[in-house]
Amino acid sequence: MKILVTGGLGFIGSHTLVALQTEGFEVIAVDNLSNSSLEVLDGIERITGTKPLFENIELRNKSAVQKLFKKYDDIRGVIHFAASKAVGESVENPLLYYENNLNSLIYLLQELQQKPAAHFIFSSSCTVYGQAEKMPITEDAPIQVALSPYGNTKQIGEEIIKDVAKVKNINAILLRYFNPIGAHESAEIGELPLGVPQNLVPFITQTAIGLREKLSVFGNDYPTTDGTAVRDYIHVVDLAKAHVVALQRLLHHQNLENVEIFNLGTGKGSSVLEVIQAFEKVSDQKLNYQIVGRREGDITEAYAHTEKANTLLGWKTELSLEDALSSAWKWEKKLEISKKPPS
Ligand code: WQD
Repeated sequence: MKILVTGGLGFIGSHTLVALQTEGFEVIAVDNLSNSSLEVLDGIERITGTKPLFENIELRNKSAVQKLFKKYDDIRGVIHFAASKAVGESVENPLLYYENNLNSLIYLLQELQQKPAAHFIFSSSCTVYGQAEKMPITEDAPIQVALSPYGNTKQIGEEIIKDVAKVKNINAILLRYFNPIGAHESAEIGELPLGVPQNLVPFITQTAIGLREKLSVFGNDYPTTDGTAVRDYIHVVDLAKAHVVALQRLLHHQNLENVEIFNLGTGKGSSVLEVIQAFEKVSDQKLNYQIVGRREGDITEAYAHTEKANTLLGWKTELSLEDALSSAWKWEKKLEISKKPPS
């Protein structure tokens, strides 16, 4: 039995491959290397001792997906990370996002629905809630009109899976992530943002290491304790473990419905300034930042209600914001060393 991990060389995908191999699963990593690199496979091997099977596949190419499932006829489960995920880019180039994110999903499901039974874990996002009315956010919080084509592909993706699972023997779990940060403690794998990082933590670590001159804090006029926006920052290692737990739930037929939804977060909100202060503490250095105007499309506050994942899924976060920031910093320093030409 093999587990297919699409987007397996990406940030969350690579950490999930490590968690799966640690639990003894045989995995196939699929990636088109558009936002990752083959070295990630070596990093995974250095951690687990096993290099995952790897296929460089364009999932938006239907025949490529059909060939993949012909080659590996013992795929029992799929964890689907592969997607374009830059919110701003999706606004500029919506069709790239609808084509890539939705066609890849449809072609995977077309293969899975031909199997006697299949298990599907979908990488979704708290972005489907937009600015939720109530904090912490529960799984039955209303889905708001998407603020970006990226967010819309997550909402539409969830609906496609629900419709297919109603009539085909596919059991699915939709995992709605809050804000994944950090890196594996070994610093063998981590976040590899292409170009200028959009997300807060990689921008912080790149500023601290001197790759960026200063961090712009997008707004301090939000109705929060210190005026900066609040998010639920979850360690990527905790997040990866949740995928293994969710897969085992399906494999052991413990799911109560053919599609289950879980919010994955720490349950704690942290403001941008609190993240900066925590980073300065763990890195023991001052961060150069400047308060600027709000970023278009940002929400004020989001943090997860964790009871359903804690009780039903039987999973909860074990690592702290400081653990995540410390591992992110260790990873950034490792990247710097690896880029330095040998002296
Ligand atoms: C966090 C906070 C920014 C950068 C996005 C996607 C979401 C998911 C996670 C994929 C916000 C502030 C950021 C900076 C800043 N991605 N910030 N200066 O926007 O909550 O979520 O990433 O699934 O779908 O929307 O994460 O890290 O971009 O921002 O002040 O240079 O940090 O305003 O308050 P976000 P983020």
